[in-house]
Amino acid sequence: MSNELLDKLLRSKNYRDICPDTVRRVWAECEKRYKKAKDVDKAAREALHGISGAFMTPQEARQLAYDMQAWHIDKADPGLERMLSRHASTRERLPLSDMDATFRRIFAATGKPRSVLDLACGINPLYLGARGIETVGVDISGAAVYAVNCFHESYRMPVSARCADLLCPGAIPGERFDVALLFKLLPLLERQENGGAARIMNTVNARHIIVSFPTRTLGGRSVGMAGNYTRWMEAHLPKGMDISDQFETRNELYYIVAR
Ligand SMILES: C[S@@+](CC[C@H](N)C(=O)[O-])C[C@H]1O[C@@H](n2cnc3c(N)ncnc32)[C@H](O)[C@@H]1O
Repeated sequence: MSNELLDKLLRSKNYRDICPDTVRRVWAECEKRYKKAKDVDKAAREALHGISGAFMTPQEARQLAYDMQAWHIDKADPGLERMLSRHASTRERLPLSDMDATFRRIFAATGKPRSVLDLACGINPLYLGARGIETVGVDISGAAVYAVNCFHESYRMPVSARCADLLCPGAIPGERFDVALLFKLLPLLERQENGGAARIMNTVNARHIIVSFPTRTLGGRSVGMAGNYTRWMEAHLPKGMDISDQFETRNELYYIVAR
């Protein structure tokens, strides 16, 4: 019975886009916590929504596809801004002038990178690609990965993405990158696997790792998140890594981490 429900979940409108490894991993974890198949199903759906579905709805993904198609007649920042507004995480960084200022600050510390690895990228690689920065993204959201790869195919932007679960073997590209971005990711990973945040930070092969945390809820409320995440970061920073710089924007806290 529970396998039938899992198959249904894998095919369902809201979750068929999520990396199947993730759906199976989350399902297996919920099976350990609940006896009844319908409770497992409910908990798995809630968990998948919390780690991925909440950030870009299927409707926003469709709007993004239209925006991208329209971009050839409006190949400029207003169109880019419209695309970036379709995912909650990039929407929170807009306007583009603020996003430019944030990346200027990051690259002032790291040097302008020739290659960026963007883990749990959402659609952030659209920004980097449009600014001419070669970026490889990884995410469990098939819709986000599809958008990044379409951006390359349609406009020859220097970006690519793969749909993979960072907590499953082989998801993280092994080659060396100048900069790795772990934006608004670590607490989400820790929620999925105890010790997952440090494990992934230790696996990344990059000269600089940039970690960020949201300082407002998805609804826009500030509820002491900056202080909580400052303590969180200090408690979860792996041995052998140091914080070389940190700064806060309107709604995000950034750390530049050095090995
Ligand atoms: C808060 S959003 C951040 C997106 C992007 N980093 C940004 O800040 O613009 C979290 C992203 O993590 C992805 N995600 C969650 N768990 C993941 C995992 N285990 N492996 C890969 N991606 C994951 C979600 O699909 C979502 O796109």
